[in-house]
Amino acid sequence: MGRLDALPPYLFSEIDAARDRVAAKGVDVVDLGVGDPDLPTPPALVDLMAEAVRNAAYHQYPSGRGDMRLRRAAAGFLRRRHGVDADPEDEILVLCGSKEGIAHLPLSLVTESDNVLVPDIGYPVYTQSAILAGAEPRTFTLAADRAFLPDPRALADLADGGTRLIWVNYPNNPTGAEAGEGLYAPLAELAAERRCVLANDAAYLEVSLDDHRPVSLLEAVDHRRNRVIEFHSLSKMFNMTGWRIGFAVGHPEVIGGLARVKETIDSGVFTAVQDVAAAALGRGAGELLGSVMAPYPERRRVVVGALAKAGLDVFSTQATFYVWARVPEGETSLGFCGRVLRDKGVVVTPGVGFGPGGEGWFRISLTASDERVAEAASRLEAL
Ligand SMILES: Cc1ncc(COP(=O)(O)O)c(C=O)c1O
Repeated sequence: MGRLDALPPYLFSEIDAARDRVAAKGVDVVDLGVGDPDLPTPPALVDLMAEAVRNAAYHQYPSGRGDMRLRRAAAGFLRRRHGVDADPEDEILVLCGSKEGIAHLPLSLVTESDNVLVPDIGYPVYTQSAILAGAEPRTFTLAADRAFLPDPRALADLADGGTRLIWVNYPNNPTGAEAGEGLYAPLAELAAERRCVLANDAAYLEVSLDDHRPVSLLEAVDHRRNRVIEFHSLSKMFNMTGWRIGFAVGHPEVIGGLARVKETIDSGVFTAVQDVAAAALGRGAGELLGSVMAPYPERRRVVVGALAKAGLDVFSTQATFYVWARVPEGETSLGFCGRVLRDKGVVVTPGVGFGPGGEGWFRISLTASDERVAEAASRLEAL
C-alpha cells in the first residue's frame, strides 16, 4: 500500500459537500464549522502591507530561516508575553503558516520503522504527516475525565525505542482544553528518556478570553536542555489565516533539522508579509490581540447559553474560539451534526472528525459574525 492510500479520508470535504447540498435547496445555512476568523486583518497591518509590497527588495527570494527582523520580533514577543528567552539566530524559524512546519517536522526526524505519538482527539495533520513521512502514527487518548489532557503513564506504555516524536496541542483544537503548569515537565522527561522530540502545536496560545494567558511549553521546559519545539501561528492571533505566516521555536538541533527539510521544499514567505508580521509581534502586540479577541467572549456566552437551553453539556474553557459540547444521549456525533444541518441549517463539526476519541462530542467555531452566531444560537436552543 502506498503512503497516499494510507491517509485517512478527509471528513471536512464531506461536511462541505453536505452543507452545499442543503444550501442548494434554498436553506440559509449558518456555517460554524471551520475555524477561520470572519473579521479582516486589523487595518493598521493591511496599511503596512500596502506599503511593504512596493519595496522592490522584497520582490526577490526571501532569506533562509526567515527575515531577522521577524525572528527578533518573535523573540521579543515570547519574552514579553511568556517570559521565554529564545535566540533568534538558531532557535526560531519562520514558517509558511504553522501547518507547514507541523507537516514537515516528521520528515526531519523519522525513518520507516519509526513511530510518532499523536493525540486522539487531534488536528488531523499530526497523523497524516507521520504517514507521509513513512512512520507509524500511534494514538493516545484524550478523555473527558482527564479534561482532555494526556495520561503520561499511558504515553510511557506507548513509547518505545522507535518513537521519534510526541505531539501535543495546547490550547487544544477542538476541545479548548489547556495545559496546566504541571503537564509539560513529565512529558519532557519521558521524551528525554526515549530520546525523542516533544512538540507542542501552540496555534491557539494567544486565542483566549478576557486576557487570560495559557502557558507555553517553553515556559515550563528549558528548550536548550530538552529536545522540544513549539509551533506558533499569526493566523488566529491577528486574523491573518490567508497570509500564511507562523514560526517555530525550540531546541537548536530540532529547529535546524526542520530548517534543512524546508530548504529543500520551500523558499520562505514573501518578505513583505514577514515585515508586517514583525510589526504585529512588536510592542503593540498586546493591544492588537485585545482588539482581535474582543468579539469572542460574547459569542461564546450566546452559544453556551443556547446549548444549556437545549440541555447539552459544554466543556468549560477560557481558551480558543471553539465550543466543545456533548451530543444528546443515544446519538452519534456524525448523526447529530447531520441532523443539525438538515433540521436547523447550522454547520457544526462532528467530534469524530478529530479521531474516534471525539465520538459523542461536536465542535462549534465562533468565527462567524455576531449576528450569524446569534442566529445559529437561536436555532440551536430548540434542538
Ligand atoms: C490545531 C491547529 N494547528 C495548526 C493549525 C494551522 O494554522 P496555520 O497554518 O494557519 O498557522 C490549525 C489551523 O486551523 C489548527 O487548528
